[in-house]
Amino acid sequence: MENILVFCLLLLSVSVATSQSVIDSATFLRCIVRQGLNPPDQTSEVTYIPTNSSFATVLRRRIPNLRFDKPTTPKPLAVVTVKNWSQIGTALACSRELSVQVRIRSGGHDFEGLSYTSTVPFFVIDMFSFRSIDVNLTEGTAWVDSGATIGELYYRIAEKTNVFGFPAGLTPTLGVGGHFSGGGYGTMMRKYGLSVDNVVGSGIIDSNGNIYTDRVSMGEDLFWAIRGGGAASFGIVLGYRIRLVPVPERVTVFTVGKTVGEGALDLIMKWQSFAPSTDRNMFVKLSLKIVNGTKPGEKTVLASFTGIYLGGSSKTLNVMNRDFPELKLKRTDCTEMRWIDSVLFWAGYPIGTPTSVLLDTAVANKLFMKRKSDYVKRAISRTDLDLILKKLVQVEKVEMNWNPYGGRMGEITSSRTPFPHRAGNLFNIEYLIDWSEAGDAVEKDYLSRAREMHGFMTPYVSSNPREAYLNYRDLDIGSGGNSTTYEGGKVYGAIYFKDNFERLVNIKSIYDEINFWRNEQSIPVRK
Ligand SMILES: Cc1cc2nc3c(=O)[nH]c(=O)nc-3n(C[C@H](O)[C@H](O)[C@H](O)COP(=O)(O)OP(=O)(O)OC[C@H]3O[C@@H](n4cnc5c(N)ncnc54)[C@H](O)[C@@H]3O)c2cc1C
Ligand SMILES: *[C@@H]1O[C@H](CO)[C@@H](O)[C@H](O)[C@H]1NC(C)=O
Ligand SMILES: *[C@@H]1O[C@H](CO)[C@@H](O)[C@H](O)[C@H]1NC(C)=O
Ligand SMILES: *[C@@H]1O[C@H](CO)[C@@H](O)[C@H](O)[C@H]1NC(C)=O
Ligand SMILES: *[C@@H]1O[C@H](CO)[C@@H](O)[C@H](O)[C@H]1NC(C)=O
Ligand SMILES: *[C@@H]1O[C@H](CO)[C@@H](O)[C@H](O)[C@H]1NC(C)=O
Repeated sequence: MENILVFCLLLLSVSVATSQSVIDSATFLRCIVRQGLNPPDQTSEVTYIPTNSSFATVLRRRIPNLRFDKPTTPKPLAVVTVKNWSQIGTALACSRELSVQVRIRSGGHDFEGLSYTSTVPFFVIDMFSFRSIDVNLTEGTAWVDSGATIGELYYRIAEKTNVFGFPAGLTPTLGVGGHFSGGGYGTMMRKYGLSVDNVVGSGIIDSNGNIYTDRVSMGEDLFWAIRGGGAASFGIVLGYRIRLVPVPERVTVFTVGKTVGEGALDLIMKWQSFAPSTDRNMFVKLSLKIVNGTKPGEKTVLASFTGIYLGGSSKTLNVMNRDFPELKLKRTDCTEMRWIDSVLFWAGYPIGTPTSVLLDTAVANKLFMKRKSDYVKRAISRTDLDLILKKLVQVEKVEMNWNPYGGRMGEITSSRTPFPHRAGNLFNIEYLIDWSEAGDAVEKDYLSRAREMHGFMTPYVSSNPREAYLNYRDLDIGSGGNSTTYEGGKVYGAIYFKDNFERLVNIKSIYDEINFWRNEQSIPVRK
């Protein structure tokens, strides 16, 4: 009896090993060649396998996070840098034929590297060449391919007009494909909502290579799902049609920083009520980080209030003096500029930097990164805030960004898109930890600091579920591993999507019932 069992287990492991080893890069490439995507002589510049001298460059050009750029990071069998829609269908045919998983990469900014790494055999469909942007001022719309960056989008809009913009993220190298399909927030969120709130159309390819070129052909359900539900569970998004939003010719930006010794605690207390309720043309982000104190060896917290007002500096001062006089904002703190220049300001460029840097798709400063997120629904008391700042000093190296909601964000119902974090949220917390030293021990140390700070915040943030933002991808909150079940998916699904999770599962079960499109945090099919 026992012997038979051992024998069976042995057989099983042999067959598993064989089925895995069969699919190597050469096999994959042969399939691609057979499908006619690459000619046998390899001159089409579409499919890169590891033996190719350009493989590493092509794979790494959109890996901003060094945590997933190590020799030990699992590599794809190939990177397929598709050039047109029909090539995507061809690559998908090989995925079906060889049962190899697909990872879709646009900007590559996924915080857990899900767009370019996996623990099962996989290849990457790289949207790098899908970058066309077509701005139509008559209609006030634009089509943007999913492989374009938001920096390119901002640039193409500003090239034609300085009275329209688009509400999306702060970092110009973010890809449209991942950023929009997960929500997309930025400094105009309080006035215009998220990127997805301003999407009016899209196109998508299913696992059989069928192309749906517009909202009508894909249907309202699928169109709903890919506006915040993460498109990687549903297909390959070709691009989005967006509605541009009006911006004034001059906007105003400012930064004021105060340490705890300079009264930061009172200012943060006031910020909690001011930032989510003030004029929706105003967005004031709060950043908390550790700096040296006045005494040698002493550490303290610096609170930076960085703001933008969609209007001139006089109005900015009126609003600030009325709603947040404690900050004592002065005219000399304010800089008026075009909206496009404010994009550079928020991205950290010095004032006066030419806007052409927005066309730079390469990430300048690669770091090891980890992010976590939270939502705050009740203002934190002064006593608790004091404890939080002390904890930040104790934990060290973790920074926090507090991004205010309210305004338009509170008006959009939580089921209008899969992104559920709408009314009732004062602000979102982003926990940031970046480092530049390699090594497993170092990494473990940094990750544990981020988790410790997140753990400490438990009493002050949302609960049942403790909500998180999909685009701040965090595998700590749950992972379906190699095969996501409904039960497993519900763990992180409820956190990212709350009540919208069930509708996402329904849509997934109709449009991808074989669960072709999957990753560690994809939407599961209903069992
Ligand atoms: C430095 C940095 C700054 C950030 N700042 C902000 C910010 O200001 N605001 C904000 O909201 N978020 C921000 N984020 C988070 C960002 O929105 C997400 O990481 C987003 O998913 C990035 O999109 P991407 O195309 O660059 O990533 P990718 O890694 O390419 O993709 C992310 C996910 O989307 C999938 N995907 C990508 N393209 C497609 C496609 N065409 N079809 C289907 N699925 C696709 C991928 O498979 C993956 O699951 C930031 C991230 C970083 C690293
Ligand atoms: C590498 O792959 C590219 C894309 O398929 C191809 O154009 C190139 O000829 C290959 N180079 C080598 C040395 O195989
Ligand atoms: C896509 O590109 C391939 C070259 O790889 C070409 O043969 C094919 O005609 C193109 N298809 C379309 C629809 O443009
Ligand atoms: C599945 O995931 C685990 C890690 O969770 C990994 O060790 C394993 O190799 C993966 N691959 C397969 C084919 O199961
Ligand atoms: C812009 O849209 C209008 C109205 O749909 C259309 O007539 C016009 O041709 C478009 N312009 C460009 C440059 O595509
Ligand atoms: C902070 O103080 C430490 C010594 O305690 C010093 O090494 C470091 O350079 C200081 N940092 C800054 C930004 O001044």
